[in-house]
Amino acid sequence: MLDKQNNNKGSFRRVVQSLSANTAADILRYGWGKEDVISLAQGEGCAPTPDFISDATYQALKEGKTHYGPVLGQPALRQEISDYYKRVFELDVPSNRVFMTSSGTTAMHLGLTSILDTDDEVVAITPIWKNLLGAVEVAEAHTVQVPLTYDDANSAWNLDLEAVMSACTSKTKAILVVTPSNPTGWVMGTEQMKELLDFARERNIWIVSDEVYNRAVYGEVRAPSFLDVAKEDDLLMVINSFSKAWAMTGWRLGWLVGPPCAEEVIRDIALYDNMGPPTFTQFGGIKALQDGEAFIQEQMDLWQSNIDLLMKRLGTNPRVKIANPKSTFYAFFKVDGEEDCLAFTKRLIDEGGISLTPGCAFGNDCKGWVRLCFAVSEEKLNKAIDRIEKVIGVGEA
Ligand SMILES: Cc1ncc(COP(=O)(O)O)c(C=O)c1O
Repeated sequence: MLDKQNNNKGSFRRVVQSLSANTAADILRYGWGKEDVISLAQGEGCAPTPDFISDATYQALKEGKTHYGPVLGQPALRQEISDYYKRVFELDVPSNRVFMTSSGTTAMHLGLTSILDTDDEVVAITPIWKNLLGAVEVAEAHTVQVPLTYDDANSAWNLDLEAVMSACTSKTKAILVVTPSNPTGWVMGTEQMKELLDFARERNIWIVSDEVYNRAVYGEVRAPSFLDVAKEDDLLMVINSFSKAWAMTGWRLGWLVGPPCAEEVIRDIALYDNMGPPTFTQFGGIKALQDGEAFIQEQMDLWQSNIDLLMKRLGTNPRVKIANPKSTFYAFFKVDGEEDCLAFTKRLIDEGGISLTPGCAFGNDCKGWVRLCFAVSEEKLNKAIDRIEKVIGVGEA
């Protein structure tokens, strides 16, 4: 069967044949089906979607909200997102700049498809969630990767903005930023955003900012957004999603904020893609925005106490290099002597019964690192750390 599939590969688009490996997905598959493996490799929380969101969706289904809807989403939801930006971000984002999509991933695909021509370059700040690089590949454009640097003295990730600017050429169509960052938890500050946007504005380069984790920043209500520093007409696309903050990963509901001139373009592209997100789920989305703040806080409290636990245990292990995550629900760490992260994550599964994500999945310069998702119960996290320690040895706490 496999041979037959491979033999037929030549019948597909050239770009499909040459897609780079997704080692994160490979390791997930490697762990699946193996007995007694704890997986902290998937990027989602353990909580189910809260009932008040599901109930609003049942209600919509019962009311027959099961027909085709507007391609760019229900006007009521687009307006609710505009109100949400006003309420939580203190920003004016009119609803004609908000385009609903079937997930943050789809928002990224639609956004990139609408701006990239073959052989354009996208400068991407890494480590980065691999699917975003994949979206660039599928659009037949190329990624130029600029890595964050790890400051050993302060155990923190930093961005050299000059390096991003120097990586831009006449072929650069977009700069891709994920802030807050999956997997490092690094958060871009407003000053760097302003500087980068000024630079991009002068050169007609798009900024595509994935802000899917912008409610998962510790000690703050929300992370800075490029929308804080942008003008309405700037070449800026901001991607967001219901997946993480409202525990709705399986719903596949996200959005894109663009300049007013993008409304028609995204509508056209979405029309030939999937004609917009499902109708009834959007009513759950409205409810999530209206009543979701207490749930977000509840999740943040659990994740913060899990960070404390992680830093107490893994953070004190003499073999482990780890930054205290400022944001997201990921810990990105390195174990002394384990340079081959793919072999290491396989060994963690085989010898420890614990599945994590290899750093090499997040860019060319991330070899040796591994990502752990700590959006789980304290009990599960403790058990997972026990298993990691079984392989790497115990910390001092
Ligand atoms: C940075 C980033 N963007 C987007 C997504 C996916 O969002 P969605 O579930 O809305 O497709 C993820 C998922 O892990 C992510 O890490």
